[in-house]
Amino acid sequence: MKNIDSRSHVRGESIYVNDIPVREDTLFGVVLGSPVAHGKLKKVDFSEALKMAGVEAVITASDIPGENQIGSIIQDEELFADREVHFVGMPVALVCARSEALARKALAAIRVEIEELRPILTAREAHAEKKFICPSRTFRIGDSDSMWKKCAQVVEGQAEMGGQEHVYLETQGAYAYMLEDGAVKVHSSTQATKYVQVGVARVLGIPMHKIEVDVNRIGGGFGGKEDQATPWGAMAALAAYTLRKPVKLILSRADDFTMTGKRHPYSFDFKLGLDQDLKILCYQVEAFQNAGAAADVSPAVMERTLFHGTGSYHVPNATITCHSCRTHLPPNTAMRGFGAPQAMFAFEAAIMKAAATLNVPPMEIQRKNLLQEGDRFPYDQLAANCNAGTCWDTAYKKFAVEKLKKEVADFNKKNSRFKKGLSLFPLCFGISFTKTSLNQGRSLVHIYTDGSVSITTGVVEMGQGVNTKILQAAAKTLSIAPRRFTIHSTNTTRIANPSPTAASSGADLNGKATIMACEALRARLQGVACRELKAQDPAQIEIRDEIIYLKGKATALTWERLVALTDESRVPLSEHAHYATPVIYFDKTVEKGHPFAYHVYGTAVTAVTVDCLRGTYEIDLVKAVHDFGSSMNLDIDIGQAEGALMQGIGLMTIEELLIDPKGKHIYNNLASYKIPDIYFAPKEVEIVPLDSHPDALALLGSKAVGEPPLMYGIGSYFAILMAMREFNPKMKLQLWAPLTHQKCLLSLYDDYGDLLK
Ligand code: MTE
Ligand code: MOS
Repeated sequence: MKNIDSRSHVRGESIYVNDIPVREDTLFGVVLGSPVAHGKLKKVDFSEALKMAGVEAVITASDIPGENQIGSIIQDEELFADREVHFVGMPVALVCARSEALARKALAAIRVEIEELRPILTAREAHAEKKFICPSRTFRIGDSDSMWKKCAQVVEGQAEMGGQEHVYLETQGAYAYMLEDGAVKVHSSTQATKYVQVGVARVLGIPMHKIEVDVNRIGGGFGGKEDQATPWGAMAALAAYTLRKPVKLILSRADDFTMTGKRHPYSFDFKLGLDQDLKILCYQVEAFQNAGAAADVSPAVMERTLFHGTGSYHVPNATITCHSCRTHLPPNTAMRGFGAPQAMFAFEAAIMKAAATLNVPPMEIQRKNLLQEGDRFPYDQLAANCNAGTCWDTAYKKFAVEKLKKEVADFNKKNSRFKKGLSLFPLCFGISFTKTSLNQGRSLVHIYTDGSVSITTGVVEMGQGVNTKILQAAAKTLSIAPRRFTIHSTNTTRIANPSPTAASSGADLNGKATIMACEALRARLQGVACRELKAQDPAQIEIRDEIIYLKGKATALTWERLVALTDESRVPLSEHAHYATPVIYFDKTVEKGHPFAYHVYGTAVTAVTVDCLRGTYEIDLVKAVHDFGSSMNLDIDIGQAEGALMQGIGLMTIEELLIDPKGKHIYNNLASYKIPDIYFAPKEVEIVPLDSHPDALALLGSKAVGEPPLMYGIGSYFAILMAMREFNPKMKLQLWAPLTHQKCLLSLYDDYGDLLK
């Protein structure tokens, strides 16, 4: 089935926050951000700004009736800086004017006095100064300490990985206005209606039931609107509440880049031990997460780093530690993969180092150590329906890796300026929120008396096609035509307390709740049909393609007639259902449990060509065998896989978060921050579904797909590195993603490497 949004998207009719018709008296907000990364806020003088025509107010911390606090996991984040600023772009005030242009003009007239303090910018620096977001954590399996001496080879090293901008097409934003009796309505571009509602309630000092948060859809989130939609919703609501006028606040791309958090940069110290047969005996890693200036969801991201510390491999002895380090950068946040890509990069980097030291192809170490059925993860869960080896072997055969290897070797023999590289990357990603309590979904289904159906769930459509999947699940359960359904906006008055749309679990959790609601409705309809058709038992009734069957035979009773009869019989045609993932649990006191409903597997093959004169590279192909379970919508799923892959390639290659020594990002648009475009895309992309079993905990057996394929991008890093080593075998092995063209060029000519320091 086609994505139900495709028609309105193509026609330009899809409604985002900025498309909502605004009231005539609407004010437009622009945020004043701190110009420095760390300092004492001495004075904010906005008297001149207030004198300007069309400017109605400048709102600061002192206007907040409730708490100046929007931190979710840890309450350490002010809405507006009060006494100190902690990152460049930290909101200090909101200017409200009759137009955005007027507000921007006024912004320039505000004088801010700040006494600058020294900023901490890297995780390693913060670690040295013991600046942490939360206590560090360690996952352990076996006993790595005593194993090192039993290893035939031990390698140690460091790896660095940069962050990443989300670059959702729709920037952050909200539109807020007063309803009756002190209530506020907020249209927000958020992945988490609840978080905005909680944030607004806290800032305004009013109960949650006075706040309605509505999201029709968002123009991409990629994790960036899980926690970080809250400030803009809270600011718009605060201004609307204070001024009693509607307030719209949509960030410009430049403000969005400056003020919002990104994927976490990480630093790693690793140590890997292997036996004579290249079997991994032990692994030890210390991960330093650059969390930025406030907790945001960093503790949860750190947890996923710990869970994915050993990637797709079986490691009998492992010690995985992660420190969440507080720096003076915008609070880093959720982003597709959520701490896992970094952990997997570190592990692959360790394998690369071992391979380089032993002079064997990394593939040999990789294949020997892939997870097998029943292997224990460091967090105690066992690998079940483990497809790691199957994906690898299928990819190896299907994509003729032996032949590719030969082609690459031949090419490299013949060419001196251009070199090719090849890599395989195995994926294993756990599905479920690592915080067990978040694994619940809700759905509200109304059947109207004409037989049409409306559905509201807790999930937010952000381009991933989740609403189409929800509709498919409902249409299948009720056995009626898709055209009978409308999926409505995500709204806190219809679905209360939803989990954020994240962790790739949106479809599983809310789709399963939808099936439950539809099953309950179907049972009622069967009861009414049973009476109407004078059958003995509702079990003899079946609804199939809008026709009512009795004992397997079609009757004259139709869906529409049955629905009308049900209402006439005063049997309710609405149902609200709640689904909570069974089986999963986790005990933090011992860091053991069964946190994931299931795992998603896959293997990607990547081939690249490096121009060793210029340091540029092209990605020749990425071909992956991916475990979709039994996909319920392969069009959507392949789209997710290809999109995620591109985002992952960008992360590992050309996307670089450059900051100056004072902590200011030295890019603020898409010319200075490069994301992959069609010219940079691999010349060939092929995603082949693995012939695998449907998983009972996945929606209709169709495994979660939103995040996992992003990690195939890691393969591009190592393919480029392999090509570079062909050119200069003595090159220092630098494990520092992203491997930009610039870094590539400088590493190829090793002597110049120090210029980058
Ligand atoms: N796809 C599109 N087009 N836009 C997005 O913002 N976000 C990703 C992924 N795919 C995203 C996307 C992220 S980070 C997650 S967690 C999942 O979608 C969330 O949706 P799901 O739970 O329905 O898979
Ligand atoms: Mo996705 S990072 O879990 O929103």
